[in-house]
Amino acid sequence: FMEVILAKKAGFCFGVERAVNAAFSEADKAKKENKPIYTFGPIIHNQIVVDDLKAHGADMISSVDELDKIPPSRIIIRSHGVGKDVYECITKNRHEIIDTTCPFVSNIHKIAHDTTESGADLIIIGDASHPEVIGIKGWCTKMPFIINDVSDIDELPDFKGDVTVVSQTTFNSKKFNNLVEFLQKKYYNIRVCNTICNATAERQEETKKLSSEVDVMVVIGDPSSSNTKKLYEISRQQCENTYYVQTLNDLDLTVIESASRVGITAGASTPKKIIKEVHDSMSETNEFEKLLQEEEDFSIR
Ligand code: F3S
Repeated sequence: FMEVILAKKAGFCFGVERAVNAAFSEADKAKKENKPIYTFGPIIHNQIVVDDLKAHGADMISSVDELDKIPPSRIIIRSHGVGKDVYECITKNRHEIIDTTCPFVSNIHKIAHDTTESGADLIIIGDASHPEVIGIKGWCTKMPFIINDVSDIDELPDFKGDVTVVSQTTFNSKKFNNLVEFLQKKYYNIRVCNTICNATAERQEETKKLSSEVDVMVVIGDPSSSNTKKLYEISRQQCENTYYVQTLNDLDLTVIESASRVGITAGASTPKKIIKEVHDSMSETNEFEKLLQEEEDFSIR
């Protein structure tokens, strides 16, 4: 019979869980007080959670991009944080801050600030357009250098003083180590702070292991989630029958019919509710098949 194995690290990491829980309890308050509240950008990259949150707060909670266009309100800062300028803008517009920045990200903000404040240069390894990287950049008192690829290293100047390297928390650790190796060859005065969050690495490791042990692998996440895409790629390398679904509706259950072991993992922004739905549906299929088999066995007898 089919065995369904759910990855232990599937779904929300500690930081996202904390931010989403805070947003839901703030939404409750907003509903009770009948006073709108805002998240600065969608709380996470998952439309289902965003819609659920809105419904939970009876439309009293919504996402905002421009803080000076709304009356003084409560503003929730997401887990991947923002730059200093955003805090200043919130204060200037007399908003109240509900800060759910992940402590691991706040730590990078501190390194970014202290490094540049001391006159040293900062290299951020990450995606320049990602809000987390924009936030880190926003704590530098001197323009940092953002690299994502080995070819970007050629563009870097000949640093005269000390240089500190940090990473976007969700950056691929293998790629990070490779880039650091190149940087160390080019510069001698480098201090490396590996700020990659373990939650990502652990989820990726577990996905790699699990996908090499199953016949079918199901990866659950929003189509726009880059960390879910990454899990899909990792899994696909080990298991050809890897499927990327957003919800149970996208899953064609016939693909698992002939499998004896199915693995499930999910990106960092995938809520438990959806993971559970997918898991339960497979287990139900399993149960149903068990029943059919028992009936068959019975009729043979
Ligand atoms: Fe924080 Fe790591 Fe999640 S940095 S938001 S716990 S991926």
